[in-house]
Amino acid sequence: MSVGQALPHESAALHVTGHALYTDDLVHRTHHVLHAHPVCSPHAHARVARIDTGPALEVEGVVRVLTADDVPGVNDSGTKHDEPLFPDIVMFVGHAVAWVLGETLEAARLGAEAVEVDYEPLPAIVALTEAIEAESFQGNQPVVARGDVDQGLTGATHVFTGVTEMAGQEHFYLETHASLALVDEAGQVFVQCSTQHPTETQEIVAHVLGLHSHHVTVQCLRMGGGFGGKEMQPHGFAAVAALGATLTGRPVRLRLSRTHDLTMTGKRHGFHASWRVGFDDDGCLQALEATLTSDGGWSLDLSEPVLARALCHVDNAYWIPHVRLHGRIARTHKTSQTAFRGFGGPQGMLVIEDILGRCAPLLGIDPVALRSRNFYVDGQATPYGQVVRHPERIARAWQQVLDTGRIAARQAEIAEFNAAHEHTKRGLAVTPVKFGISFNFTSFNQAGALVHVYKDGSVLINHGGTEMGQGLHTKMLQVAATTLGVPLTKVRLAPTRTDKVPNTSATAASSSSDLNGGAVKDACEQILARLRAYADGRDVAWDELVREAYLARVQLWAAGFYRTEGIHWDPAAMQGHPFKYFAYGVAAAEVEVDGFTGAHHTRRVDIVHDVGDSLSPLVDLGQIEGGFVQGMGWLTLEDLRWDESDGPGRGRLLTQSASTYKLPSLSELPDELNVALLEHATEDGVVHGSKAVGEPPLMLAFSVREALREAVGAFGRPGASVELASPATPEAVFWAIERGRG
Ligand code: MTE
Ligand code: MOS
Repeated sequence: MSVGQALPHESAALHVTGHALYTDDLVHRTHHVLHAHPVCSPHAHARVARIDTGPALEVEGVVRVLTADDVPGVNDSGTKHDEPLFPDIVMFVGHAVAWVLGETLEAARLGAEAVEVDYEPLPAIVALTEAIEAESFQGNQPVVARGDVDQGLTGATHVFTGVTEMAGQEHFYLETHASLALVDEAGQVFVQCSTQHPTETQEIVAHVLGLHSHHVTVQCLRMGGGFGGKEMQPHGFAAVAALGATLTGRPVRLRLSRTHDLTMTGKRHGFHASWRVGFDDDGCLQALEATLTSDGGWSLDLSEPVLARALCHVDNAYWIPHVRLHGRIARTHKTSQTAFRGFGGPQGMLVIEDILGRCAPLLGIDPVALRSRNFYVDGQATPYGQVVRHPERIARAWQQVLDTGRIAARQAEIAEFNAAHEHTKRGLAVTPVKFGISFNFTSFNQAGALVHVYKDGSVLINHGGTEMGQGLHTKMLQVAATTLGVPLTKVRLAPTRTDKVPNTSATAASSSSDLNGGAVKDACEQILARLRAYADGRDVAWDELVREAYLARVQLWAAGFYRTEGIHWDPAAMQGHPFKYFAYGVAAAEVEVDGFTGAHHTRRVDIVHDVGDSLSPLVDLGQIEGGFVQGMGWLTLEDLRWDESDGPGRGRLLTQSASTYKLPSLSELPDELNVALLEHATEDGVVHGSKAVGEPPLMLAFSVREALREAVGAFGRPGASVELASPATPEAVFWAIERGRG
């Protein structure tokens, strides 16, 4: 039985020895490759009046310059048709107006410098608040509502209003965007691409080239991280490489430098939320009205579904009888913001966690008690109408963290420590996670697989999901081996490609093991059923049975398919049952803050997380630890800054390297990090009782932000409400302390 076994990631040895191949490594195995370099706009918003490529063609080694005139199909790389691939109006600093192909990357770079572009600058909207003021919005404006908010607020004994703002986040995957495109003698286009969504990359490449999908194959070996940043953003780069390859007949490689990746590609959406909330005397939530505005950047990209998920997660783990949530997407002259682990869920949940953290002192209730008092209980439904199944698991995980983390005792210890230390304070907080699993858009909840059993009994599996470090392939190998009843060593996995499994969904929404696991299992079961029928009750060893079955003309391969049953969603009404189930988790964090600088450190974290019956416990542990740390980075360290001045650099990303954008590193990790998987949590109707794990743990990091709020509060007047910026960088923490003292 290999499902449930604690195995290392299938590529762990290749990762650590440097032998794992990524898209750009293939360049060294390909002959006569051309290198692509962009010509980037220095303006946040401008009309492109003239492009003269002539001087670039004079540069030694430059082979061709790609512009809008070269596009045989549609000059657009967005699924919403709002992203011209070669724009005549640039919409952000770094927007590529042309691409230069050179014999070397250096030749292409010098060629790009030589391209002459005349711009007529236009007014630019940079800050989200500017966009709100100017009413610069794009896309739909959904509303999630239940009950009667006005009545709920009128009936509430305590009503508070506030604004919560939060920054976005840079994915900073180790591998930047990369594509390598080739065209064969029959005009078939083959693109190796670092993409979470090979099918959509295939479709966009086909549109741009004016071809059908069957002319284009996209393959993804693996990604050096995606985190949502490669769900929609790779398509345009793949299309440029493919266009270059079709025009020159030579392989074209496009890999972004780190600076280009940071300045040209989308990030997590920053959000602005204004809210009014009502509690009763016991601190039970009565009503919440809020307007959430996301910073979409220059085009829609995935902003609409990200917003929908944000609105569907404002409730987090809490029952709120009366709710009205408005959503809007701002259009700003910045990179087009996109999917990022949690897909809007973290932003929605941060709103209610910020509300509870700020209101607890005003209500005179300990935040730990305030949170648990508001948990969903059996029979209650979310504001969008889905009954919350197994809400007792939230309470169970909560209690386990309170017990194993000795929360009550440590609260007393911390109070003692804080009384004894004037310039150093500690804080402790516990926060829950409830995260909906499935794509909100019901159609995406399908997957395919192709399983071959060869005559010698060895097995090769293909499925529609991509590997980005999250361990999907490891889990799929385990599912195949377990279903067929063969040892893991008999099973190999082939790279993800669109000509093996078509019409796939993005590897996203944490759903890939549920979906592809269902499809792999289905294919294996079909083969097994045929073998069983052939064996007819005889007990024959696998290799022998396979050989005999082949000779008896039994089909030894199968295509598998899976669709998630029982889900539905009405996007107009924003009501339905969009999620197959909820993933739950609870975290407690203790921090220490220096009052002179705001510098902070996480001393201890205790996590209990619900993955159902784990398919692969080591993989899941890695996802929980990694997700948590990435969440800590978003909430406490990583600080995206754009130039909002009226100077010539307006709209430029100021944090365009790791020296100005602080990522979590070893020294920011908690001194002690205890992770436990919730026990007795088998999930019905999912592959081997398991639950998705990719995104939910990121939101366990709210505990760190809330612990910082507690520590900041300890510097100030007891019982005062603490407002904390997000990210709560040392600087932000320092100013929060100062406000409390003042
Ligand atoms: N883990 C690693 N190591 N690298 C990644 O890029 N992406 C995350 C998560 N975990 C990511 C990761 C995101 S955003 C998602 S949606 C899921 O993995 C996708 O994979 P899954 O559906 O197999 O969980
Ligand atoms: Mo993950 S943000 O759904 O790719």
